[in-house]
Amino acid sequence: MKVLVVGGGGREHALAWKLAQSPLFSEVVCAPGNPGTAKVARNVGIAASDTAKLVHLCRHEKIELAVIGPEEPLCRGLGDELRAAGVKVFGPGASGARLEGSKLFAKEFLTRHRIPTAAFRRFDRSGAAKAYLESCAQWPQVVKADGLASGKGVFVTQDAREACAVVDAVMEERRLGDAGTSIVVEEHLIGDEVSVLAMVDGQTICVFEPVMDHKQLRDGDAGPNTGGMGVYSPVGVFTQRLQRQVEQNILIPTLHGLRQDEIDYRGILFVGLMLTDAGPRVLEYNCRFGDPECQAAMRRLASDLGPYVLATAEGRLGELEPPQWDPRACVGVVGAAEGYPGEVRRGDVISGLEEAEQVADVVVFYAGVKRSASSLVTDGGRVLCVTALGGDLNQARTSAYSAFEHIRWDGKFARRDIGARRAARAR
Ligand code: AMP
Ligand code: GLY
Repeated sequence: MKVLVVGGGGREHALAWKLAQSPLFSEVVCAPGNPGTAKVARNVGIAASDTAKLVHLCRHEKIELAVIGPEEPLCRGLGDELRAAGVKVFGPGASGARLEGSKLFAKEFLTRHRIPTAAFRRFDRSGAAKAYLESCAQWPQVVKADGLASGKGVFVTQDAREACAVVDAVMEERRLGDAGTSIVVEEHLIGDEVSVLAMVDGQTICVFEPVMDHKQLRDGDAGPNTGGMGVYSPVGVFTQRLQRQVEQNILIPTLHGLRQDEIDYRGILFVGLMLTDAGPRVLEYNCRFGDPECQAAMRRLASDLGPYVLATAEGRLGELEPPQWDPRACVGVVGAAEGYPGEVRRGDVISGLEEAEQVADVVVFYAGVKRSASSLVTDGGRVLCVTALGGDLNQARTSAYSAFEHIRWDGKFARRDIGARRAARAR
């Protein structure tokens, strides 16, 4: 059977890398992929946004299974179009992807199904939003653009002046485009933040090993939010007891809610949680693997991913045993280009990749990387993610950073503290 991976970032490199190891597939095809996926799969030059060409590709090449990586094509209904063409799809249709595509839809879903989340208000006009914010006694308040904004649509604001400036930028100046047509103003929650990833096939939930992202740009969680500067797994705060609590109070009610709302959800359900004193609260849903969470999850997944992806797409996940996980720890360090998360510099030559991958148990996943003549050059904000396995987080950290040092390009930077807080606690 042939499998198609849609997307071209680090997440898709990790998925293609893992699927290429599966005896289930005769070929892994990536659209559009990147020079990393080209090492393990066959790239075809079709953008993830080109629904018609992707449907044609699957028909023409008799591709039976598709794994959709990014949220944009999922929200646009690529899953529905491929299913209508007879392809088995790992990834929800447009109705399920709204859990990520619209913060309002997600908040209304959470409230309707009594799933714990921060209290919120919806605003469709900037005047009403600002009047409300001027009247707030409790600070901070969290302002969120309704639509997709690549992780840039959430603002934790400290006072009314700052919050109103965000409302102006988002709703009046449309700095985030149509994502800012409506906003959510939300209660600020305090606690440790964790993400839970699960495969869901409409009936059954299969929870992944917890993985922790580092969202802020700089060491010590300072600076602006990014797509994710690094990742580690396992996550100490995520005890077995907490995992059961999250399954009972959040994952199972979410699955029931989806069924009640007649949404046939097949793919990844990624739940961002705040572990508050009153218990876990949902911050957000994503309808796909996190990036770079996926890279660490794929390194730690000991079982063959192929049967799980296929069973999820076919709605028979319940027939499989839970997957096996590598007991070793994983640390993933993202190397970013100068300017990220703003306007970035592109076209800088990347060297030292082979040396990096010679470090034991290291795999480098490419993201913003492009081939130019005989060399690889930077082509995006997050350029790559160096992942390492180790006996514990400290060993994994040491390997990941020593491999990272071999890799060079002008303007390269990274956080130096990925996994460090946990590693320090473990020591
Ligand atoms: P989201 O995209 O909704 O996960 O928001 C991005 C980040 O903003 C989260 O990872 C949190 O760090 C922060 N955040 C979002 N909502 C809240 C909230 N209600 N209280 C505190 N922090 C929040
Ligand atoms: N790393 C966060 C995300 O993919 O949403």
